[in-house]
Amino acid sequence: MSEKIRIAIIYGSAREERFCDTVANWLLSELEGLSGFDVAILDPARLTFTASGPDARSVAEIEMQLARADAFIIVVPEYNHGYPGVLKALIDSTYKPWHAKPVAFVSYGGVSGGLRAVEQLRLVFAELHAVAIRDTVSLAHAWSQFDSEGNPMRPSQMKGPLIVMVNRLLWWARALRAARWESVYDDAA
Ligand SMILES: Cc1cc2nc3c(=O)[nH]c(=O)nc-3n(C[C@H](O)[C@H](O)[C@H](O)COP(=O)(O)O)c2cc1C
Repeated sequence: MSEKIRIAIIYGSAREERFCDTVANWLLSELEGLSGFDVAILDPARLTFTASGPDARSVAEIEMQLARADAFIIVVPEYNHGYPGVLKALIDSTYKPWHAKPVAFVSYGGVSGGLRAVEQLRLVFAELHAVAIRDTVSLAHAWSQFDSEGNPMRPSQMKGPLIVMVNRLLWWARALRAARWESVYDDAA
């Protein structure tokens, strides 16, 4: 079991001029400084969505990225105490590639830092047989946490919780990957 753990970073907003890029860029630059895993990006802004969800080519891309990943970090904003519809469409477009894998959240927004969106996503991921881990990074008044270049105003305050979250995500990713190799998750039913 020597292959590196693969973490897929999933962007939760596809809005033009989204703040998601600032948060995700910070996350990616922090992850670059860590070792022991590879990172892939799944960005709904690079996919095509119809009224029924992602188109066939986009579903294939989502399935491929999720299937290759051992763990997920979702960068999610809060909109009216929920999470964006585009993220739900992405999540709902496939099923088995989520199974028996851990999910962590980097959330952002106004006063709540996106935590209400995260709590709703925990219910969604329970239905997908995924493990939403307890530790999160939550950025309240997110726009005040970065300078105009996108650098964090208080780097160590943001990095501390991120390191805890990533370490626990990797623990779950290793444990669940070993368990998936031992037997097929669906056979447990
Ligand atoms: C229609 C709307 C509703 C929002 N509702 C909330 C909210 O309920 N809680 C919160 O913390 N922030 C809320 N916000 C602030 C967003 O989280 C913030 O604008 C964030 O940058 C959106 O992410 P994005 O720019 O990556 O799309 C809301 C913003 C808009 C435009």
